[in-house]
Amino acid sequence: MERIMVVDDEKSMRDFLSIMLEKEGYTVSAAKDGTEAKGLIDGELIDLVIADIKMPETNGIELLEYIRQVSPETIVIMITAYASTETAIQALKLGAYDYITKPFNVDEIRIIIEKALEKKRLKEENIYLKKELQLRERQYFDSIVGKNKKMVALYRLIEQIAPTNTTVLICGESGTGKELIARAIHYHSPRRDKQFVSINCGALPETLLESELFGYLKGAFTGATSNKKGLFEVANGGSFLLDEIGEMSPSMQVKLLRVLQDKIIRRLGGLQEIKVDVRIITSTNQDLQRLVEEKKFREDLFYRVNVMQIRIPPLRERRDDILLLANHFLSIFTKETGKNIQGFHEQTKAYLESYDWPGNVRELENVVERAVALETTNLIMPERLPEKIYRDKMPSPDSPFYLPDEGMKLEEHIVNIRKKFMASALEKAGGMQKRAAALLGMTFRSFRYFIKKYGLR
Ligand SMILES: Nc1ncnc2c1ncn2[C@@H]1O[C@H](COP(=O)(O)OP(=O)(O)OP(=O)(O)O)[C@@H](O)[C@H]1O
Ligand SMILES: [Mg+2]
Repeated sequence: MERIMVVDDEKSMRDFLSIMLEKEGYTVSAAKDGTEAKGLIDGELIDLVIADIKMPETNGIELLEYIRQVSPETIVIMITAYASTETAIQALKLGAYDYITKPFNVDEIRIIIEKALEKKRLKEENIYLKKELQLRERQYFDSIVGKNKKMVALYRLIEQIAPTNTTVLICGESGTGKELIARAIHYHSPRRDKQFVSINCGALPETLLESELFGYLKGAFTGATSNKKGLFEVANGGSFLLDEIGEMSPSMQVKLLRVLQDKIIRRLGGLQEIKVDVRIITSTNQDLQRLVEEKKFREDLFYRVNVMQIRIPPLRERRDDILLLANHFLSIFTKETGKNIQGFHEQTKAYLESYDWPGNVRELENVVERAVALETTNLIMPERLPEKIYRDKMPSPDSPFYLPDEGMKLEEHIVNIRKKFMASALEKAGGMQKRAAALLGMTFRSFRYFIKKYGLR
């Protein structure tokens, strides 16, 4: 149901085109001049505009320029009197799709419009496919990194359940890779050539979430100026990730349950039942079972979404993957920034491996991105890590480098350290002062001086 706007100052022409296009099944609006047309363009999504070039006030060319600016996806077709093809050519240069000279016949205009809209649909699909292809390459095919035993077991599980139609619940702390795994499931399933759609249920207010999921008809609520497909329809034949399902409001839970049971949706403001075939994947960083016990999540919905459960372990439970992942991100970000960084300094590696990673893989990814941006040498140095990774690594109270909160006397501390080292050196050297001094890189003179001063023997 594409939307077309007819702009002509001649009423008979407007009516003729409107009636004809409506018969073809398009939704048509009409404007009597360029100014009125601009107002309409501002308020709704219009797929195609067919406008007379010669109109009083805002003429067709000005309108065309305006549309290119505010609604670049809208196709514009100009109507021109036979005598003014020059302006028509100007219109083409300004981005009009085509022009029709008066008088025209109905078939001519019908076919031009059909072709133009078909081209637009193809283009949109291509944009979508290209985006998904990039994501496929970047996010999945060579990019789930990890050799940890738990992760390998998880890959096996994905391979088993991907080809089925089972509803999957993915549990894991934030940043563990839930979306990545959901995509992996989709792209390993027979649905891979259809769309993978995802929405974060916690990020949108309820009414918006509902209209996004189910779509709406024009006039369903204030602001619904055109019909819009819901995401369930977009994902038809494909997979749909409902992210942060635990955040869904009780009334949305009821609506989702209905979709899962009946596989039928209805657009807001509409009565027509639309059958959808979608594989549902949900994810959560909360304990859904507990939400059920606390009556915050419907038990019947829980059983519907929890048919197959995948739990992604937090990064701290698979420390052997930390450096693998760090190197993976390092190669991504050095490529992106064009920097020549060979790897991580040994100390940096030690810090990365012993940190607790509350933000999991996403946090590690951010830490590496930041470090790459800051690094000026060809190794990632420890001081490029955020302070909190450092701070965790501050010396403990029994270390000689520990600084107590109440402060200390550094000079005295250094004297003590010197005393201790001199005593050890003497012991090692069997009491021979010359050799002990050499062990500490001191001159015999100053060694003797300090022996006297400290009363060492
Ligand atoms: N095993 C992995 N290998 C490579 N990259 C990973 C891996 N796990 C996660 N990532 C990357 O870490 C980032 C976070 O992953 P993702 O968005 O899938 O996590 P999430 O669990 O959905 O996070 P959130 O809870 O924040 O939504 C992404 O950039 C993803 O590509
Ligand atoms: Mg996510």
